[in-house]
Amino acid sequence: MKVTVVGAGAVGASCAEYIAIKDFASEVVLVDIKEGFAEGKAMDLMQTASLNGFDTKIVGTTGDYSKTAGSDICVITSGIARKPGMSRDELMGINAGIVKSVSASLIEHSPNTIIIVVSNPMDTMTYLVHKATNLPKHRIIGMGGALDSARFKYRLAEALEAPISDVDGMVIGGHSDKGMVPLTRLATRNSVPVSEFLSEERLEQVKQDTKVGGATLTGLLGTSAWYAPGAAVSGLVQAIACDQKKIYPCSALLEGEYGLSDLCIGVPVVLGRNGIEKIVEINLSEEEKTQLSSSAEAVKKNNEALTF
Ligand code: NAI
Repeated sequence: MKVTVVGAGAVGASCAEYIAIKDFASEVVLVDIKEGFAEGKAMDLMQTASLNGFDTKIVGTTGDYSKTAGSDICVITSGIARKPGMSRDELMGINAGIVKSVSASLIEHSPNTIIIVVSNPMDTMTYLVHKATNLPKHRIIGMGGALDSARFKYRLAEALEAPISDVDGMVIGGHSDKGMVPLTRLATRNSVPVSEFLSEERLEQVKQDTKVGGATLTGLLGTSAWYAPGAAVSGLVQAIACDQKKIYPCSALLEGEYGLSDLCIGVPVVLGRNGIEKIVEINLSEEEKTQLSSSAEAVKKNNEALTF
Protein backbone atom coordinates (compact mmCIF):
# COMPACT_ATOMS: atom_id res chain seq x y z
CA MET A 1 0.00 0.00 0.00
CA LYS A 2 1.57 3.24 -1.18
CA VAL A 3 0.29 6.58 0.06
CA THR A 4 1.29 10.03 -1.18
CA VAL A 5 0.77 13.14 0.91
CA VAL A 6 1.16 16.44 -0.92
CA GLY A 7 2.08 19.31 1.38
CA ALA A 8 4.64 18.41 4.05
CA GLY A 9 3.46 21.22 6.31
CA ALA A 10 1.70 20.92 9.65
CA VAL A 11 -1.22 18.72 8.57
CA GLY A 12 0.64 16.71 5.89
CA ALA A 13 3.52 15.77 8.19
CA SER A 14 1.18 14.95 11.08
CA CYS A 15 -0.90 12.74 8.81
CA ALA A 16 2.25 10.98 7.51
CA GLU A 17 3.36 10.40 11.09
CA TYR A 18 0.04 8.83 12.15
CA ILE A 19 -0.04 6.64 9.03
CA ALA A 20 3.51 5.44 9.75
CA ILE A 21 2.84 4.77 13.43
CA LYS A 22 -0.19 2.64 12.54
CA ASP A 23 2.19 0.64 10.29
CA PHE A 24 -0.30 -0.47 7.61
CA ALA A 25 1.34 1.22 4.60
CA SER A 26 4.54 0.04 2.92
CA GLU A 27 5.49 3.53 1.74
CA VAL A 28 4.49 7.14 2.33
CA VAL A 29 5.76 9.78 -0.14
CA LEU A 30 5.74 13.36 1.08
CA VAL A 31 5.74 16.06 -1.62
CA ASP A 32 6.26 19.78 -1.09
CA ILE A 33 7.14 22.77 -3.23
CA LYS A 34 9.61 24.21 -0.69
CA GLU A 35 13.10 23.02 -1.58
CA GLY A 36 14.28 20.24 0.75
CA PHE A 37 11.31 20.58 3.10
CA ALA A 38 9.59 17.26 2.36
CA GLU A 39 12.95 15.47 2.31
CA GLY A 40 13.74 16.92 5.74
CA LYS A 41 10.35 15.99 7.20
CA ALA A 42 10.65 12.47 5.77
CA MET A 43 14.14 12.00 7.22
CA ASP A 44 13.07 13.28 10.63
CA LEU A 45 10.05 10.95 10.62
CA MET A 46 12.18 7.98 9.48
CA GLN A 47 14.44 8.60 12.45
CA THR A 48 11.42 7.92 14.70
CA ALA A 49 10.88 4.48 13.10
CA SER A 50 13.10 2.49 15.46
CA LEU A 51 11.72 4.46 18.41
CA ASN A 52 8.06 4.09 17.46
CA GLY A 53 8.40 0.59 16.00
CA PHE A 54 7.17 0.97 12.43
CA ASP A 55 8.48 -0.33 9.11
CA THR A 56 6.68 2.10 6.80
CA LYS A 57 9.22 3.75 4.50
CA ILE A 58 8.80 7.53 4.30
CA VAL A 59 10.43 9.44 1.45
CA GLY A 60 10.29 13.12 0.60
CA THR A 61 10.57 14.99 -2.67
CA THR A 62 10.55 18.59 -3.83
CA GLY A 63 7.97 18.31 -6.58
CA ASP A 64 9.22 15.14 -8.32
CA TYR A 65 5.90 13.40 -8.93
CA SER A 66 7.56 10.40 -10.57
CA LYS A 67 8.33 9.31 -6.97
CA THR A 68 4.57 9.16 -6.29
CA ALA A 69 3.91 6.74 -9.18
CA GLY A 70 1.55 3.89 -8.39
CA SER A 71 0.11 5.43 -5.23
CA ASP A 72 -3.07 3.72 -4.04
CA ILE A 73 -4.17 6.77 -2.05
CA CYS A 74 -3.12 10.42 -2.46
CA VAL A 75 -3.83 13.10 0.13
CA ILE A 76 -3.82 16.79 -0.85
CA THR A 77 -2.91 19.13 2.02
CA SER A 78 -0.93 21.63 -0.06
CA GLY A 79 -1.84 25.29 0.07
CA ILE A 80 -2.18 28.03 2.61
CA ALA A 81 -3.82 27.67 6.02
CA ARG A 82 -5.87 30.28 7.83
CA LYS A 83 -4.56 32.73 10.40
CA PRO A 84 -6.57 34.07 13.36
CA GLY A 85 -9.69 35.93 12.22
CA MET A 86 -9.71 34.40 8.73
CA SER A 87 -12.47 32.17 7.37
CA ARG A 88 -11.67 29.02 5.40
CA ASP A 89 -13.32 30.60 2.36
CA GLU A 90 -10.68 33.32 2.22
CA LEU A 91 -8.12 30.68 1.17
CA MET A 92 -10.03 29.91 -2.00
CA GLY A 93 -8.16 31.97 -4.64
CA ILE A 94 -4.67 30.64 -3.87
CA ASN A 95 -5.63 27.09 -2.94
CA ALA A 96 -7.81 26.45 -6.00
CA GLY A 97 -4.85 26.90 -8.35
CA ILE A 98 -2.62 24.70 -6.18
CA VAL A 99 -5.20 21.91 -5.77
CA LYS A 100 -5.97 21.85 -9.49
CA SER A 101 -2.34 21.51 -10.60
CA VAL A 102 -1.46 19.05 -7.82
CA SER A 103 -4.38 16.73 -8.66
CA ALA A 104 -3.37 16.70 -12.34
CA SER A 105 0.23 15.74 -11.44
CA LEU A 106 -0.96 13.01 -9.07
CA ILE A 107 -3.26 11.40 -11.62
CA GLU A 108 -0.61 11.52 -14.33
CA HIS A 109 1.52 9.17 -12.23
CA SER A 110 -1.21 7.25 -10.36
CA PRO A 111 -4.25 7.00 -12.66
CA ASN A 112 -6.02 4.51 -10.36
CA THR A 113 -5.53 6.43 -7.15
CA ILE A 114 -8.11 7.47 -4.59
CA ILE A 115 -7.77 11.16 -3.67
CA ILE A 116 -8.45 12.62 -0.23
CA VAL A 117 -8.79 16.42 -0.30
CA VAL A 118 -7.88 18.34 2.85
CA SER A 119 -6.95 21.84 1.61
CA ASN A 120 -9.54 24.51 2.43
CA PRO A 121 -12.19 25.54 1.65
CA MET A 122 -12.39 21.76 1.57
CA ASP A 123 -15.88 21.11 0.16
CA THR A 124 -15.21 23.47 -2.74
CA MET A 125 -11.72 22.04 -3.31
CA THR A 126 -13.19 18.52 -3.39
CA TYR A 127 -15.75 19.64 -5.98
CA LEU A 128 -12.92 21.26 -7.97
CA VAL A 129 -11.00 17.97 -8.04
CA HIS A 130 -14.14 16.20 -9.33
CA LYS A 131 -14.63 18.76 -12.09
CA ALA A 132 -10.97 19.05 -13.02
CA THR A 133 -10.13 15.34 -13.09
CA ASN A 134 -13.33 13.49 -14.03
CA LEU A 135 -12.30 10.57 -11.81
CA PRO A 136 -15.17 8.29 -10.76
CA LYS A 137 -16.96 9.91 -7.83
CA HIS A 138 -16.19 7.14 -5.33
CA ARG A 139 -12.47 7.90 -5.71
CA ILE A 140 -12.60 11.54 -4.53
CA ILE A 141 -13.20 12.15 -0.84
CA GLY A 142 -13.08 15.37 1.17
CA MET A 143 -11.90 15.24 4.79
CA GLY A 144 -13.70 17.56 7.20
CA GLY A 145 -16.53 15.74 8.96
CA ALA A 146 -14.19 13.20 10.57
CA LEU A 147 -12.33 16.05 12.24
CA ASP A 148 -15.46 18.02 13.11
CA SER A 149 -17.01 14.86 14.62
CA ALA A 150 -13.89 14.25 16.74
CA ARG A 151 -14.18 17.82 18.00
CA PHE A 152 -17.90 17.26 18.66
CA LYS A 153 -17.14 14.12 20.70
CA TYR A 154 -14.50 16.01 22.64
CA ARG A 155 -17.01 18.74 23.54
CA LEU A 156 -19.73 16.19 24.36
CA ALA A 157 -17.44 14.21 26.66
CA GLU A 158 -16.42 17.44 28.37
CA ALA A 159 -20.06 18.45 28.96
CA LEU A 160 -21.05 14.93 30.07
CA GLU A 161 -17.93 14.51 32.21
CA ALA A 162 -17.68 11.10 30.52
CA PRO A 163 -14.78 9.26 28.83
CA ILE A 164 -14.62 10.08 25.12
CA SER A 165 -14.80 6.35 24.25
CA ASP A 166 -18.32 6.27 25.77
CA VAL A 167 -19.51 9.05 23.48
CA ASP A 168 -20.69 8.87 19.88
CA GLY A 169 -21.75 11.67 17.59
CA MET A 170 -21.47 12.95 14.07
CA VAL A 171 -21.18 16.28 12.26
CA ILE A 172 -22.49 16.53 8.71
CA GLY A 173 -22.76 19.49 6.33
CA GLY A 174 -20.14 21.88 5.04
CA HIS A 175 -16.72 22.15 6.69
CA SER A 176 -17.17 25.76 7.82
CA ASP A 177 -18.12 27.45 11.09
CA LYS A 178 -21.61 28.27 9.84
CA GLY A 179 -22.10 25.21 7.64
CA MET A 180 -21.45 22.41 10.14
CA VAL A 181 -24.47 20.47 11.35
CA PRO A 182 -23.60 18.67 14.61
CA LEU A 183 -26.31 16.03 15.04
CA THR A 184 -26.97 16.45 18.77
CA ARG A 185 -30.30 14.58 18.44
CA LEU A 186 -28.45 11.40 17.43
CA ALA A 187 -25.46 11.76 19.78
CA THR A 188 -25.22 9.10 22.46
CA ARG A 189 -23.44 8.15 25.66
CA ASN A 190 -23.30 4.34 25.82
CA SER A 191 -26.28 4.17 23.44
CA VAL A 192 -28.36 6.56 25.58
CA PRO A 193 -29.32 9.87 23.87
CA VAL A 194 -27.21 12.68 25.32
CA SER A 195 -30.39 14.73 25.83
CA GLU A 196 -31.03 12.43 28.82
CA PHE A 197 -28.01 13.97 30.53
CA LEU A 198 -27.69 17.51 29.14
CA SER A 199 -30.09 20.45 29.04
CA GLU A 200 -31.05 22.01 25.72
CA GLU A 201 -28.94 25.06 26.57
CA ARG A 202 -25.87 22.93 27.36
CA LEU A 203 -26.33 20.97 24.14
CA GLU A 204 -26.61 24.20 22.18
CA GLN A 205 -23.33 25.31 23.77
CA VAL A 206 -21.68 22.02 22.72
CA LYS A 207 -22.95 22.62 19.20
CA GLN A 208 -21.58 26.16 19.05
CA ASP A 209 -18.20 25.15 20.56
CA THR A 210 -17.94 22.40 17.94
CA LYS A 211 -18.69 24.74 15.07
CA VAL A 212 -15.94 27.16 16.07
CA GLY A 213 -13.55 24.33 17.02
CA GLY A 214 -11.03 25.18 14.29
CA ALA A 215 -11.26 28.96 14.87
CA THR A 216 -10.72 28.48 18.63
CA LEU A 217 -7.50 26.60 17.94
CA THR A 218 -6.36 29.08 15.30
CA GLY A 219 -6.82 31.83 17.91
CA LEU A 220 -4.74 29.92 20.47
CA LEU A 221 -2.04 28.64 18.13
CA GLY A 222 -1.76 31.61 15.77
CA THR A 223 -2.19 29.12 12.93
CA SER A 224 -4.47 26.27 12.03
CA ALA A 225 -4.42 22.98 14.00
CA TRP A 226 -2.60 19.84 12.87
CA TYR A 227 -2.74 16.91 15.33
CA ALA A 228 -6.48 16.21 15.05
CA PRO A 229 -6.59 17.00 11.31
CA GLY A 230 -3.64 14.64 10.72
CA ALA A 231 -5.22 11.90 12.83
CA ALA A 232 -8.55 12.32 11.02
CA VAL A 233 -6.89 11.98 7.61
CA SER A 234 -4.95 8.92 8.75
CA GLY A 235 -8.25 7.35 9.90
CA LEU A 236 -9.71 7.77 6.42
CA VAL A 237 -6.55 6.44 4.77
CA GLN A 238 -6.55 3.39 7.06
CA ALA A 239 -10.25 2.69 6.46
CA ILE A 240 -9.56 2.57 2.71
CA ALA A 241 -6.19 0.80 2.85
CA CYS A 242 -7.43 -1.89 5.24
CA ASP A 243 -10.89 -2.14 3.64
CA GLN A 244 -12.47 -1.47 7.02
CA LYS A 245 -15.95 -0.45 5.76
CA LYS A 246 -16.02 2.20 8.48
CA ILE A 247 -18.54 5.01 8.42
CA TYR A 248 -17.12 8.53 8.47
CA PRO A 249 -18.81 11.77 7.49
CA CYS A 250 -16.91 12.84 4.36
CA SER A 251 -17.41 15.39 1.62
CA ALA A 252 -18.86 13.39 -1.27
CA LEU A 253 -20.33 14.32 -4.63
CA LEU A 254 -24.09 14.16 -4.20
CA GLU A 255 -26.46 13.23 -6.99
CA GLY A 256 -29.85 13.47 -5.33
CA GLU A 257 -28.95 12.08 -1.90
CA TYR A 258 -30.45 14.23 0.86
CA GLY A 259 -32.29 16.07 -1.92
CA LEU A 260 -29.01 17.70 -3.01
CA SER A 261 -26.97 17.47 -6.19
CA ASP A 262 -23.98 18.89 -8.04
CA LEU A 263 -21.92 19.71 -4.95
CA CYS A 264 -19.62 18.05 -2.44
CA ILE A 265 -20.69 18.25 1.18
CA GLY A 266 -20.26 16.21 4.36
CA VAL A 267 -22.52 13.16 4.66
CA PRO A 268 -21.93 9.74 6.25
CA VAL A 269 -20.20 7.32 3.88
CA VAL A 270 -18.88 3.76 4.11
CA LEU A 271 -15.13 3.77 3.38
CA GLY A 272 -13.44 0.67 2.02
CA ARG A 273 -10.89 -0.40 -0.57
CA ASN A 274 -12.90 1.26 -3.37
CA GLY A 275 -13.08 4.59 -1.57
CA ILE A 276 -16.65 5.73 -0.97
CA GLU A 277 -18.54 2.44 -1.14
CA LYS A 278 -21.90 3.82 -0.05
CA ILE A 279 -23.46 7.14 0.85
CA VAL A 280 -25.57 6.54 3.94
CA GLU A 281 -28.85 8.45 4.01
CA ILE A 282 -30.02 8.91 7.58
CA ASN A 283 -33.46 10.23 8.50
CA LEU A 284 -32.99 13.87 9.42
CA SER A 285 -35.45 15.99 11.39
CA GLU A 286 -37.01 18.98 9.60
CA GLU A 287 -34.64 21.31 11.49
CA GLU A 288 -31.58 19.27 10.48
CA LYS A 289 -32.76 19.17 6.86
CA THR A 290 -33.11 22.96 6.86
CA GLN A 291 -29.63 23.36 8.34
CA LEU A 292 -28.12 21.00 5.77
CA SER A 293 -29.86 22.82 2.89
CA SER A 294 -28.61 26.22 3.96
CA SER A 295 -25.13 24.76 4.41
CA ALA A 296 -25.39 23.36 0.87
CA GLU A 297 -26.44 26.75 -0.48
CA ALA A 298 -23.33 28.36 1.02
CA VAL A 299 -21.06 25.66 -0.48
CA LYS A 300 -22.70 26.09 -3.89
CA LYS A 301 -22.21 29.84 -3.74
CA ASN A 302 -18.51 29.27 -3.06
CA ASN A 303 -18.30 26.81 -5.96
CA GLU A 304 -19.53 29.52 -8.35
CA ALA A 305 -16.15 31.23 -8.06
CA LEU A 306 -14.34 28.19 -9.49
CA THR A 307 -12.99 27.91 -13.03
CA PHE A 308 -12.16 24.47 -14.39
P1 NAI B 1 1.07 24.50 6.11
O1 NAI B 1 1.32 25.88 5.61
O2 NAI B 1 1.72 24.06 7.36
O3 NAI B 1 1.45 23.44 4.96
C1 NAI B 1 1.09 23.58 3.64
C2 NAI B 1 2.24 23.09 2.80
O4 NAI B 1 1.83 23.07 1.42
C3 NAI B 1 3.48 23.98 2.87
O5 NAI B 1 4.60 23.23 3.33
C4 NAI B 1 3.67 24.46 1.45
O6 NAI B 1 5.04 24.63 1.07
C5 NAI B 1 2.99 23.35 0.66
N1 NAI B 1 2.62 23.73 -0.71
C6 NAI B 1 2.12 24.91 -1.15
N2 NAI B 1 1.93 24.84 -2.49
C7 NAI B 1 2.30 23.62 -2.89
C8 NAI B 1 2.33 22.94 -4.13
N3 NAI B 1 1.92 23.54 -5.27
N4 NAI B 1 2.81 21.69 -4.17
C9 NAI B 1 3.22 21.06 -3.05
N5 NAI B 1 3.22 21.65 -1.84
C10 NAI B 1 2.77 22.90 -1.76
O7 NAI B 1 -0.53 24.37 6.22
P2 NAI B 1 -1.33 23.25 7.04
O8 NAI B 1 -1.62 23.75 8.39
O9 NAI B 1 -0.66 21.95 6.86
O10 NAI B 1 -2.73 23.25 6.24
C11 NAI B 1 -2.78 22.75 4.92
C12 NAI B 1 -4.18 22.95 4.34
O11 NAI B 1 -5.09 22.10 5.02
C13 NAI B 1 -4.74 24.37 4.50
O12 NAI B 1 -5.46 24.73 3.34
C14 NAI B 1 -5.67 24.24 5.69
O13 NAI B 1 -6.67 25.23 5.68
C15 NAI B 1 -6.22 22.86 5.45
N6 NAI B 1 -6.80 22.20 6.61
C16 NAI B 1 -7.93 21.48 6.39
C17 NAI B 1 -8.53 20.78 7.41
C18 NAI B 1 -9.75 19.98 7.12
O14 NAI B 1 -10.40 19.49 8.06
N7 NAI B 1 -10.13 19.78 5.86
C19 NAI B 1 -7.98 20.84 8.79
C20 NAI B 1 -6.77 21.60 8.90
C21 NAI B 1 -6.20 22.26 7.85
